Amino acid sequence: MNRYHGGRVAENVLDFSVPVNPLGPPKHLIDILKRVIKDNVDTIIKYPDYEYSDLKKALAEFYNIKEQCVIPLNGAAEALYIVLAVYRPRNLIVVEPTFGDYREASYALGVRLTSIHYIENMDAFIFPLEPLLSISSNIARKSVILLSNPNNPTGSFIEVKYVREIAESFRESLIFVDEAFMDLSEKFRENALHLVEEYDNIVVVRSLTKSFSVPGLRMGFMHVCGKLSRILDLYRQPWNVNSIANHVFIELLSRFRDDMKEFLETSRRYIVLERSRVTSHLKYMRFVVYRSYAPYLLVRSHKFIAEEMNNMLMKYNIYVRDASSYTPLTKYFFRVAIRSKHDNDRFIEVMRKLFGDRNE
Ligand SMILES: Cc1ncc(COP(=O)(O)O)c(C=O)c1O
Repeated sequence: MNRYHGGRVAENVLDFSVPVNPLGPPKHLIDILKRVIKDNVDTIIKYPDYEYSDLKKALAEFYNIKEQCVIPLNGAAEALYIVLAVYRPRNLIVVEPTFGDYREASYALGVRLTSIHYIENMDAFIFPLEPLLSISSNIARKSVILLSNPNNPTGSFIEVKYVREIAESFRESLIFVDEAFMDLSEKFRENALHLVEEYDNIVVVRSLTKSFSVPGLRMGFMHVCGKLSRILDLYRQPWNVNSIANHVFIELLSRFRDDMKEFLETSRRYIVLERSRVTSHLKYMRFVVYRSYAPYLLVRSHKFIAEEMNNMLMKYNIYVRDASSYTPLTKYFFRVAIRSKHDNDRFIEVMRKLFGDRNE
């Protein structure tokens, strides 16, 4: 088992392997960050408030959720490890292909993995609700069911009524809904944040790293209510969010709340338009492009394996995410992040040059 994520490329490469907000980071965020470093750098010689009271309040107000149910994170990736350490599940139930960290966490912590598969249907991956609901209660009891929504890498969307049905059916399981890309999806209104107040067996995870395009700064949170919330908050690392990220996001989300809501709305509209443009071009080149509600596209070639494609693309300093590490995808799958119009134009131009009429 190897750890494999996108993003490990040289500076001059157009990196289509890491999906984040193509319009970010917003100017207000950069301005706040510069000001912290220039005028307030002393912030790093103090421990941040380990209760993160102001950050919880800023996140809760921005997302219209309950402050006492918010657990700040150093990026969404931290959530699963805290949940597994605290909940100690008998099984991890995953719906694959999905985010690779879920499998890696199961190996790292020695938790048995039960995998069911999305149903590939022409150019969409369909969520296997019935197969999931028919998992025996013996396997599901005291297990964590991991749902990535919209799903990485397929971009498929799980209806909120399905999340509710899963939580109802498996009362003795914990439903972990990873909404890392939700802020950047046109389906963002159908999120599961509010379900947490109704179901104490649902944890929702968000990534502001993705929403505001700051993978090097990092920010995320869990939304979970009831007894579990207090225990998860108690068992995260005490100063998991560094002082700079803490300061930047408190100011960004409280002082510029309306601007940032508008920024996310503009980003979603931009992603929809660019994704549809890239999709049409790739389809025209005879690639299979799967229906996506996320800032990326899962694509399959009939002829070239992803590694070969990257070798060819890298001659033009372009890099996509080889998706063959996502069980059970084959070597012919790759994932393309939606970037700025300018970068997408370059991607399309190079793809046409390389594969325009050769991908039959
Ligand atoms: C589904 C999913 N969840 C979580 C993460 C990690 O997010 P963050 O960078 O905020 O830790 C990723 C990163 O790619 C992801 O794809």
